[in-house]
Amino acid sequence: MATSSMSFLPKNFPKVKTYKLYINGRWVSSNNGETFVSVNPYSQKPAGFFQQGSELDVKAAITAAEKAYPSWRDTPAPTRGKILLRASQIFQERKHELGRIVTEEMGKSIIEGKADVQEVVDIFEYMAGEGRRLFGHTTTSELKDKFAYTIRVPLGVTLCITPWNFPIAIPAWKISAALICGNTIVFKPSSDTPLCATKFVEILEEAGIPKGVINLVTCSGSTIEAAVTDDRIRAVSFTGHKNTGLRITQIAGIKRVSLELGSKNAIIVMDDADLDLAVDGAVWAAFGTQGQRCTATSRIIVHKKIKKEFEKKLVARVKKLKYGNPLDPKIQLGPLVNKQQLDKYVKYLHIGEREGAKLLHFGGAVNNTMFALPTVFTNAKPNMNICRDEIFAPILVILECKDLKDAISISNAVDYGLVSSIYTKDIGNAMKASQKLETGITYINAPTIGAEVHLPFGGVKKSGNTREAGIVGIDEFTELKTIYIDYSGKLQRAQIEPYLNSGDKKK
Ligand code: UN1
Repeated sequence: MATSSMSFLPKNFPKVKTYKLYINGRWVSSNNGETFVSVNPYSQKPAGFFQQGSELDVKAAITAAEKAYPSWRDTPAPTRGKILLRASQIFQERKHELGRIVTEEMGKSIIEGKADVQEVVDIFEYMAGEGRRLFGHTTTSELKDKFAYTIRVPLGVTLCITPWNFPIAIPAWKISAALICGNTIVFKPSSDTPLCATKFVEILEEAGIPKGVINLVTCSGSTIEAAVTDDRIRAVSFTGHKNTGLRITQIAGIKRVSLELGSKNAIIVMDDADLDLAVDGAVWAAFGTQGQRCTATSRIIVHKKIKKEFEKKLVARVKKLKYGNPLDPKIQLGPLVNKQQLDKYVKYLHIGEREGAKLLHFGGAVNNTMFALPTVFTNAKPNMNICRDEIFAPILVILECKDLKDAISISNAVDYGLVSSIYTKDIGNAMKASQKLETGITYINAPTIGAEVHLPFGGVKKSGNTREAGIVGIDEFTELKTIYIDYSGKLQRAQIEPYLNSGDKKK
């Protein structure tokens, strides 16, 4: 968790390392000499000082990426893939050390900190393989002795803006895909997790990414707008809040903008579901990462016949969750990432109460800490704000449904559409739900979290406009170029020549 830049510090402030920007293959101070501090949300100790990059730094990063582009673009993709594979191996070797850094800087439990790193290992390995594919299409031509096909070409300099909740996995989804396709990168991580971003870039440097191909600029959101509006940036890939996504689309001009935004994911629990399995899934998906995942479950839509029983089992499980030092493997709940998230959690406790939802289990904030404990509301109605707004904290809301149709309509009654889930033993219900739920991802008998890197990830409606990871992850960072080869030796006119000998000629 980071706080804003400080010009002086108390005498007893512990000595901490100052980290730099990475521009054109060199670790450099910001142009204006300003720094900010990143703080461990559990211990409240500083994790490090980081450069508060200026617009000049942002421009220098773009210039470096622009200069490095032709040579990286012309490097054969399998050669680029070898560097990505090496990076994957280094991430694997350092999994424990990096997992710890993720947990310390962001607050998620250590098992999840390591899982964050595992996603990086996996996506770099996957994208390395793409270096030997990057397939286009070959197809027929409407003219004789003419051939047509497509190739993938990189976009140029791309800007990747990433959040704090998966401080290395989400950068890895974007950056591995951008790199294998031959783009160069300006990377602006969240100011809450700059240490994770720095370690990530250090490993890419060690793996042999040439200078200028990736450039790290830690800076404020308003400063990076200088890159969003810069014509030399050909694409912006952003994961974060929907309002920021909207702002980017408004100022980006003519460049590709890929957005992964908010969510309000629901699990449907039908009357024939395995209730213990559904409770396991609900607890993991609602309270893992303290509810701070785009994929987190924030609503349960439960069939009225089994609602009471489900609630009883759920509360019994929630009561067993332990909060504390997230580095302790026995702890499931770490602190929230920052004060802003904590305030939002408290605000929505009040909103839920005011809207008349029943408090089934109260957690509350723990004084003078960043802990927000699991809270469950029930008897909620779909139009309540707690059922519609993204909260991004450990607040779960239960709604009742009378049948599958009702459940699907409640699940869909939100602006977002990232992930949905249904627990049922009825194959027909499962099939209908998988078609009718308006989300980018649907799980059957599994919770809303747990996306794997070789499958497309992304949402519909206000959850975003793109798919990342998997085979389609490369679509975000390439153009398809169409090539026609005419070997007839004469001018052949499309739409005309093939029809000259047909009825057209006579008329
Ligand atoms: C996110 O919540 O922003 O499926 C990404 C999951 C993880 C990725 C989450 N693999 O929960």
